Formats: sequence, structure tokens, C-alpha cells
Amino acid sequence: MNTSRIDFAAFGALTDADCHERIRAARASLGARAVILCHHYQRAEVYQYADLTGDSLRLARLASATDAEYIVFCGVHFMAEVADILSGPRQMAILPDLAAGCSMADMANLTKVERCWRELGETLDVEEGITPVTYINSAADLKAFCGRHGGIVCTSSNARAIAEWSFRRREKILFFPDQHLGRWTGHGLGIPLDEMQVWDPDLENGGLTPEQVRKARLLLWKGHCSVHQMFRPEHIESFRAAHPDGLVISHPECCFEVCRLSDHVGSTERIVEIVRDAAPNTRWLVGTELNLVDRLAEEVKAQGKVVQFMAPTVCMCSTMQRIDPPHLAWTLENLAAGHVVNRITVPEHEAAPAKLALERMFAAS
Ligand code: 13P
Ligand code: SF4
Repeated sequence: MNTSRIDFAAFGALTDADCHERIRAARASLGARAVILCHHYQRAEVYQYADLTGDSLRLARLASATDAEYIVFCGVHFMAEVADILSGPRQMAILPDLAAGCSMADMANLTKVERCWRELGETLDVEEGITPVTYINSAADLKAFCGRHGGIVCTSSNARAIAEWSFRRREKILFFPDQHLGRWTGHGLGIPLDEMQVWDPDLENGGLTPEQVRKARLLLWKGHCSVHQMFRPEHIESFRAAHPDGLVISHPECCFEVCRLSDHVGSTERIVEIVRDAAPNTRWLVGTELNLVDRLAEEVKAQGKVVQFMAPTVCMCSTMQRIDPPHLAWTLENLAAGHVVNRITVPEHEAAPAKLALERMFAAS
């Protein structure tokens, strides 16, 4: 076994063929000690090595069920944190490039959420009246905040069930960091738009009056996904004009108008399932990240289905793209040589309450 950690420098200069050869060799030598999890948005060159794939909820469940020593997460930072929180003490969550973050998750942080909670406390009894709900696309300390304050985590596939759970306990929800998922979920529960207020964390009292706070059932953090904000209602309108029989499916991180104009709205896993199970020869406009859409288009082509990307411009999850074959090769070679690199560890004082909020989610969905 090598004694020192293998440096990344040489991996960037490898030819594609050499890089893939080294991934295969290191993967084979690790055997069952490692499992590779890939989110649906992962680039094709990496996705081909996935042992397990899925949306955030499915990957969280899979991460908690595996007994591999190394959980190599080809996703983004918050996903690897969830894997660390849910896995056993002998297991390690690894993120092949530490720069693979989520820009939406970065739109909320503990300081701002605690300030929001304090400011809301000047108008309401927060512990009795508001359930904090964090989208899984958030840092572990925000999940811990929810765990400590009677709150819960949700994903794009269980947001409705989680909101129902929350409203059974308290009158209002503070939902962060994605205003769009929160709004679409509230709309699905029949909450009028004027009972949902946007909380701007950069303004005093979120930019709201006490009256607005008292009237709101849902307080929506002013955050969004930079990829999904690119899909616009006019893209759907021109698709419908050109293809009146076409069908539209979107991710709930898209803005309200896009979701409202879509035939279906669902998580990445749901999007794949619906298009896969659709009748042959149907045409689809899909509002989610390009890698997923390209892969789906290729898969269903043989059934005569046409799958089209919603935006005219290329929009990918550029942070998830940072996990590329050189980073995967470097990570696996180090692990195979006994050097743990890029381990994601959530400190115990955050992991315990974050796990509580995640367990509430599993129980409620
Ligand atoms: P899913 O849970 O639907 O996979 O969504 C995760 C995500 O980050 C979408 O942008
Ligand atoms: Fe985050 Fe958006 Fe990327 Fe999803 S697509 S991981 S929300 S930046």
C-alpha cells in the first residue's frame, strides 16, 4: 500500500481513455468496500459508473441503507452531508470535488435563519405557531435548526406530505431556502397566494410588516435555483403553439407560472418515471437540468418519444458538473490506496438534531 496521498495534479492531464481506465481499475480494486451514488443531474461520463441513482429522497434512503465503507457521492455537498448523517459510524461519505456545492443551498445560512426566527418572534410565538421546514438542499446546520425547533426536512418529492405534517402541528410554516418549491406546495394545498409572503433575509423583518407576518400561512425564504429560474412561461407557450398535442413536465424549483402551465410537476425521479411510462410517440417539453433531459431523450427515443429541453440556452448544474472523471479517478485511487480524501463530516452537535429532522421526514412521507 502507498504511504502518501496521491496528488490531484497529474489527473487533469490524463487522456480520457487513461482516465477511464484508472477509474475502472480503482473501482474494481475497491469492490464492495465502495458504493458510487449519482444524482440524475450528473454528467454522463461519471453517471456511467453509478451503482445507485435517484433524486434527493431516494439517494438519502439509499445512503442510509448501504453498508459500504465508502459512500462516494457524485452529487453536491448537501447530499454528501445527508449521507454522512444517515450512515453508520464505520462509513464515510466522500465528495470527489469539494467545490461541488449548491447555489440555492447557499442562499440561506444559520445566521440569517436565526435572525429571521428572532424577528418573527417579535410578532408571533414562534415555537408554538411556526414550523420551520428546510428543503433538503440546505446545509446540515439548517437541518439541525429545524430538528431543534420542532421542524422537519422535505424534498421535492414529499413537500406536500411534509407541509401537511407541519400544518397539523402549527398554524404557519417558515420554508427555506427555495421560495418556488414552497409556493407550489402551498398552492397545491389550496393556500391563496396572498397568504404566502416572501421573506427577504437581507431586509429588516424580511421586508414585511407585522400585519403581513400575522396574515401569512407560509413564509417563503427569498431563494431560488439558478438553473431552474432559466425556464420561462414563454418557452411553454411557444412549445404549445408549435406542438398542440405536446406535454410539459417541470421540476417544482421552476417559478410558479412555469409550474402552473405544466401538465405535470415532479421531482427528478418522478420526471424520469412519467416520461418513461408515457405512451409511445408522445412529445415532451422538460423543465429541469440538461444532463437528465439528454439522458432521458436518448432512453425513450426507441419508443418514438421526443424529449425536448425547455430553455433555448444551455443550463446545467455547473456545480455538480465539477465532479468529472479526473476527480472520480483521483478519489477512487486514493481510497483504493488507503487514503481517505474529501471526506464530508458533519459535527455531532449538528448531526444529531439534523438526523432528527430527517427522521421526521422519513416518518411523515
Ligand atoms: P430532486 O430531489 O428532485 O432530485 O431535486 C434535487 C435538486 O437539486 C434539483 O435541482
Ligand atoms: Fe442546487 Fe439548482 Fe444544482 Fe439543484 S440544480 S443542485 S438546486 S444549483
